[in-house]
Amino acid sequence: MSSKAPIILAIDTSDLELAKLWISHTSEHVSVFKLGLEFFINFGKEGIRAVTENSDAKIFLDLKLHDIPNTVGHAAQSAATLNPLFLTVHASGGQAMMEAAVKAAPKTLVTAVTVLTSMSNIDVKSVGFRDDSLNTATQLAQLAVKSGVGAIVCSPLETSVIRESIGKQALIITPGVRPLAMAGSDDQSRTMTPSDAIAAGADYVVIGRPITSAWEPTGINIAKRAREIASEILNS
Ligand code: C5P
Repeated sequence: MSSKAPIILAIDTSDLELAKLWISHTSEHVSVFKLGLEFFINFGKEGIRAVTENSDAKIFLDLKLHDIPNTVGHAAQSAATLNPLFLTVHASGGQAMMEAAVKAAPKTLVTAVTVLTSMSNIDVKSVGFRDDSLNTATQLAQLAVKSGVGAIVCSPLETSVIRESIGKQALIITPGVRPLAMAGSDDQSRTMTPSDAIAAGADYVVIGRPITSAWEPTGINIAKRAREIASEILNS
């Protein structure tokens, strides 16, 4: 039986060889690997191909596209040649922009980021939204679903309200989770455990440092940490 949990592992490193090692040592327990701007700006498409060659690793390409529809459409079309399972755009780019991405990458789950979880209610209002982050994220999730996206990203604390609002029309992915044993251990302040986030309605959780900080050159510890967190989710 597969012990893969609905974990998206954040490969937050600008070391290509390390990225390959993290993937190979955790792929038994992790479903998808997130490669973001830091990685992509350093290594581009070649880097993505390099970490996925000789493996069946599924990719979450976290480029958070946000531009006019024509530009985002062309960027999404180009990104789609890498066959990512997920490709992120900012929902605040609007319906036409999200529709352009969906049309340009029909085999990819275009994934709309609602409100960055690093933003406070004050930050959300300071960029011009009228509502607090929960209501803003909910409205953006509704707009994203209307635009035909396959998934949305939101805070674990917003998940149950957003799930109720959008039903099963899109997958929900949430970062900002911390296993019980590691609560409060770094700069994350508003967190939930991975299993609570799934119980609240998330389909996948994004986890980075709680797993990758266990890296040492044998790979034994990172594999163990991934297995422990996967079983915490699968057995809950
Ligand atoms: O904190 P952690 O290392 O688990 O973060 C994993 C990923 O989740 C990061 O790559 C980041 O993009 C995302 N994240 C987020 N909001 C936060 C913290 C992290 O979207 N508040």
